[in-house]
Amino acid sequence: MTNDIKISNIENDRSEEIFQLHKQEFPTISEANLVLQLENDKDVVLSLGATRNHQLIGHLVLSRMRAPFPALGMAPISIDKNNRRQGIASLLIRHAIKYSQAQNWSGIFVLGEPNFYQRFGFSTSAAKDFICPFSGPYFMYLPLTELPKGLERAKINYAKAFDGLA
Ligand SMILES: CC(C)(COP(=O)(O)OP(=O)(O)OC[C@H]1O[C@@H](n2cnc3c(N)ncnc32)[C@H](O)[C@@H]1OP(=O)(O)O)[C@@H](O)C(=O)NCCC(=O)NCCS
Repeated sequence: MTNDIKISNIENDRSEEIFQLHKQEFPTISEANLVLQLENDKDVVLSLGATRNHQLIGHLVLSRMRAPFPALGMAPISIDKNNRRQGIASLLIRHAIKYSQAQNWSGIFVLGEPNFYQRFGFSTSAAKDFICPFSGPYFMYLPLTELPKGLERAKINYAKAFDGLA
């Protein structure tokens, strides 16, 4: 049930809660640190939270990519273990896509399980010609606008905070 879930852009300081959530839900602290670094570098475009009774149970980050067109990277995304398989990640992802469209971004990159992300329109084939340190079978792209010819082969990279993680 997601009727009681509130999805909102986090503008106030919930950094500690966000840090703890990613720390708990990933095997290592890397993703939690990544969010802090993205925030410090001012590369976060959207910090989207899912709350139930004011408790943060899901979080997703969109950050600006280094690319010759307006592109976003979606990472990380975490849902609290006790609240999974209820469609909360799907709510966050769909909201993030709508936000990106409304703000005229050209597309969103994600690295993850294709079976999970393809339901939202992400595809490995749309990502295959970009030159990126994260390229490979888990690298996907969701185009939101048509790119000028040639840019689908552009050199791109995630924000600086991702350096060294590929
Ligand atoms: C992956 C994650 C974000 C999914 O969150 P969630 O709220 O449980 O996802 P949803 O309920 O919206 O799932 C939607 C569908 O995706 C499927 N799904 C969920 N996790 C999946 C996974 N890891 N791989 C493939 N499919 C997955 C579910 O089966 C569900 O389909 P169903 O409704 O037909 O059963 C969550 O498991 C998580 O936080 N994992 C740890 C952190 C992580 O790995 N983040 C993603 C890195 S790419």
